[in-house]
Amino acid sequence: MISTAAPPAAVFPPKTGNSPLNALQEEILELKKARNAVILAHNYQIEPIQRVADHLGDSLGLAYAAANAQAETILFCGVHFMAETAKIVNPTRRVLLPDANAGCSLSDSCPADKLAAYKAANPHLYVVAYINCSAAVKALSDVICTSGNAVKIVERVPADREILFVPDQNLGAWVARQTKRHIRLWPGSCYAHVLFTVSALERVRTQYPHAPIVAHPECTEAVRDLADIVCSTEKMVHFCKETPAKEIIIATESGMIHRLQRDIPEKTFIAGPTDRCACNDCRFMKMNTLEKVRDALRDGTPEIQMDEAIRTAALTPIQRMLDWSR
Ligand code: 13P
Ligand code: SF4
Repeated sequence: MISTAAPPAAVFPPKTGNSPLNALQEEILELKKARNAVILAHNYQIEPIQRVADHLGDSLGLAYAAANAQAETILFCGVHFMAETAKIVNPTRRVLLPDANAGCSLSDSCPADKLAAYKAANPHLYVVAYINCSAAVKALSDVICTSGNAVKIVERVPADREILFVPDQNLGAWVARQTKRHIRLWPGSCYAHVLFTVSALERVRTQYPHAPIVAHPECTEAVRDLADIVCSTEKMVHFCKETPAKEIIIATESGMIHRLQRDIPEKTFIAGPTDRCACNDCRFMKMNTLEKVRDALRDGTPEIQMDEAIRTAALTPIQRMLDWSR
């Protein structure tokens, strides 16, 4: 049975500086140089990985970083669709993912064959795909978006076109409300973000009555309505810097707390709890470890491979997104 008792809050107090890197992290930095590699890491990665990354960011920032990468190898510390995106935008680079099984429940909720069938039955739809989807789904889409630019992208879709938004119904509904566009929603969701509940967040707010709640748009509507701001992980960093609040509740994957502490050490971040847990890890993001990062650089595997026809078809809507986001 699920316990509804309040879990203790996971509080991350201000940090006073970085400890020296450990031997494994030093080995990774040496290998990175020797292999002419760049390490891109998503904000949800564990702190030891964040500390060896060249670029840390959200899906949008990392897509730009991948497109501009000059190094021979891109080691992508994130999940599979992110590494695939790097390969799509920069195909002459070798793209490595520390754990080939690091997938995404949201991406899995929209298989390409199901989308192809839906499109065939509804050929008038303009498909806006959240970047959390496979290369094959991107290849079937008209434009890609991320949580950081979804409103901007949907606003650019011709007004006479009906939109199908895949795969995240929560992000899609959030965008529909802000843009006032009628949007058909694919019934997908992120298993981790839907675990945040109003009751769990309200319980933690009784302990921190002045702390604003920051939520990711993949959260449910009830949680988004409760939040003081709903935004992408990178925009969370800007909000937390700007707000006068000294304590802030963060309703997204717990790795985000490390990024926030690193950039804003003078503030205290409280991980948004679920009904069962004091914080919320994405099991896919957490498959990457320092050992796997070292092994991937040393052995040049697991490498992202992609059918060239799918890659070029997927590039068109990604390129449209990058152009529309400028
Ligand atoms: P961001 O692009 O906001 O970092 O989100 C990525 C993601 O996977 C959220 O679950
Ligand atoms: Fe996918 Fe959710 Fe994990 Fe993000 S947090 S990578 S959407 S499963």
